[in-house]
Amino acid sequence: MTNAKISKIPSVKKQIILPGDKSISHRAIMLSSLAKGDTKIKNFLPAQDCLCTLAAFEAMGIAVKKPKGDQLLIKGAGLRGLHKPDSEIYLGNSGTSMRLLLGILAGQEFQATLTGDDSLIKRPMRRVTNPLKQMGAHIDGADNGNLAPLKIKGGKLRPINYNLPISSAQVKSCIMLASLYADGVSNIKEPQQSRDHTERMFKLFGAKVSADNGISVTGPSSLISPGEINIPSDISSAAFFIALGLLLPKSQITIKSCGINPTRTGLLDIVKRMGALIDIVNIQGQDYEPYADIVVKTSKLNCITVQAHEVPKMIDEVPILALIAALASGTSVIKGIGELRVKETDRINSMVTNLGTMGVDISVQGDSIIIKGPAKLKAANVKSYGDHRTAMTMVIAGLLADGETIIDDTACIDTSFPEFMELVAQLRA
Ligand code: S3P
Repeated sequence: MTNAKISKIPSVKKQIILPGDKSISHRAIMLSSLAKGDTKIKNFLPAQDCLCTLAAFEAMGIAVKKPKGDQLLIKGAGLRGLHKPDSEIYLGNSGTSMRLLLGILAGQEFQATLTGDDSLIKRPMRRVTNPLKQMGAHIDGADNGNLAPLKIKGGKLRPINYNLPISSAQVKSCIMLASLYADGVSNIKEPQQSRDHTERMFKLFGAKVSADNGISVTGPSSLISPGEINIPSDISSAAFFIALGLLLPKSQITIKSCGINPTRTGLLDIVKRMGALIDIVNIQGQDYEPYADIVVKTSKLNCITVQAHEVPKMIDEVPILALIAALASGTSVIKGIGELRVKETDRINSMVTNLGTMGVDISVQGDSIIIKGPAKLKAANVKSYGDHRTAMTMVIAGLLADGETIIDDTACIDTSFPEFMELVAQLRA
């Protein structure tokens, strides 16, 4: 097991470039594989989760060239060009790979089996298998099609009118992908808008989609490669350095060319309400996925109440927001975060345990967490629970705490951000 030993850093003045967006990288592989024509993907994220998606498509006959670590050339096989894989498809820790791929497999004539690591095989899949079954797919798995390994055989699909019970980009995207294969118009609505990368990429690939008032996909809809996709840096990875820049004394961190899709910038909106000094400059890419330089300065932060409807825009940033709130003055409440219990691990439990161990007054009330700041963070032995975002949050906590923090098992960081520890080490230089 790789343990990380982290000690306090005095201040940071740096400009950093972060790797490509994970959500967009998954979708770029998927749509490029199903499109007519070849696609060059630039600034692809070569992290374990995305490599699992890539391997799945290679196993289904897609030809991929990798001229550089962060570049892919994918030869599109068309909507009906995938082949039956020879064996089960292993998707590691990646919920996005499994849920989106199920949508694509629902439209295939062949049978395939999807599985994953100890965490993925415990995560709820009924949220996607139920609507896919309604569309006509045949899916078997433990707990009545809820748990992987999942055996799926698709074929002719009916369109669907589906109101998501919870906001989820994975569920929405799964149904959108299946709708490409259905005969007719599918309409999809969610309570609050979650990340809209699939909607944007469908448009880029010329799919028959509208996303003005809910989402409508008219199937069958072929996809045409745009030739090239440039992926901006991942704002969920940037979140850790945004927190550090705000909380360290006398610091300024500039994150270059980072994705600022408004369905992902909930953390920025919230910390600005807390008093954060953040500038967004050099905005570009507004015709597809916007990106900009994010300039973060040391800030004096006040407590915050985050309402449930704000959570989908920052669902992966709740752990790092909990740390930010711990160091702000006053009592913060983050409401409506029940979904964190079914992420890679139960992130409510890990935040309460780990931050509590480091001296933070943090408690749970139903689906809310309550944090009384400002805490005096003290170094401690904490656990990643094998969850990349928990591990990275605790590394940032270690950089802010007095003494030496030891985080067990940080290898899991590779699932989304393999360069993270190296970048942290460079902050001291
Ligand atoms: C993702 C959607 C979110 C997020 C995950 C990536 C995606 O999951 O937590 O890290 O790429 O669609 P949910 O849709 O389950 O909220």
